[in-house]
Amino acid sequence: MLDVNHITVEYNNVPTLIDFNLHMDKGEIISLVGESGSGKTTVIRAILGLLPQEGSVAEGDILFEGRSLLGYSEKQMNEIRGTDICMIFQDSGAMINPIRRIGSQFEEYILLHEKISRKEAHQKAVRMLEAMRLPDGENIMRSYPFQLSGGMRQRVGIAMAMTFQPKLLLADEPTSALDVTTQAQIVRQMVELNHEFDTSVIIVTHNLGVAAYMSHRILVMQNGRVVEEGGREQILQEPSCEYTKKLLQAIPVMDGELYVE
Ligand SMILES: Nc1ncnc2c1ncn2[C@@H]1O[C@H](COP(=O)(O)OP(=O)(O)OP(=O)(O)O)[C@@H](O)[C@H]1O
Ligand SMILES: [Mg+2]
Repeated sequence: MLDVNHITVEYNNVPTLIDFNLHMDKGEIISLVGESGSGKTTVIRAILGLLPQEGSVAEGDILFEGRSLLGYSEKQMNEIRGTDICMIFQDSGAMINPIRRIGSQFEEYILLHEKISRKEAHQKAVRMLEAMRLPDGENIMRSYPFQLSGGMRQRVGIAMAMTFQPKLLLADEPTSALDVTTQAQIVRQMVELNHEFDTSVIIVTHNLGVAAYMSHRILVMQNGRVVEEGGREQILQEPSCEYTKKLLQAIPVMDGELYVE
């Protein structure tokens, strides 16, 4: 489904993400973990075709369903983003315009990608909000972003991202700004969505506990390189790299077992 073939990303001609390689199947969940500056967001942006102006993929290729995304025009990328490939940011509140009601923004987003009436778009949005366990969808639609909690805004962001049942969801620290309980709920919902729609997910997280709970495979990154890669059990039980061991020490231990929710 997604093949990232040995890409190197440069910022101002300086290689920053080096020889990154990832092959992903339909329905798979992969976590990228690693310290700040290790290149996680760069991976996500490269896949989305959203590197900043000074950034570029200098080597390698990115294939989505067998076709090179690097060869797509801006217009083709715009069509894919928001339908086949979607993205959730750390704070979806930042993505949503603060001075406009959720409803009009959500409806417009739907109308941008689908030729239906505004009323139908409205109903679709409400259904998506309720699927994300936001209780009164109509009420959320009437709200301004600042009237919602961080967790609610993040659910709105995920609801929007899931509207067109994307084949690939890219989530860059979607829960880092939230308290632990809300984090756990949202992570659980993302797993549910993955089961329901068979969406493949790449999630960036600082939290190896979150990674281990939700993903099939984990990639550990440091200084622009993947330093360890493996299935969740393998990473948790037999980490080979010192850095992974350090990350593991940050997960609480209960009754001699790693506490992975
Ligand atoms: N626009 C840019 N111009 C120059 N260098 C950049 C730019 N964006 C990122 N970098 C550099 O690329 C490296 C990787 O950054 P990236 O944002 O991918 O890290 P990250 O793993 O997502 O970190 P964090 O956990 O803090 O979000 C860093 O050294 C960063 O300084
Ligand atoms: Mg980042």
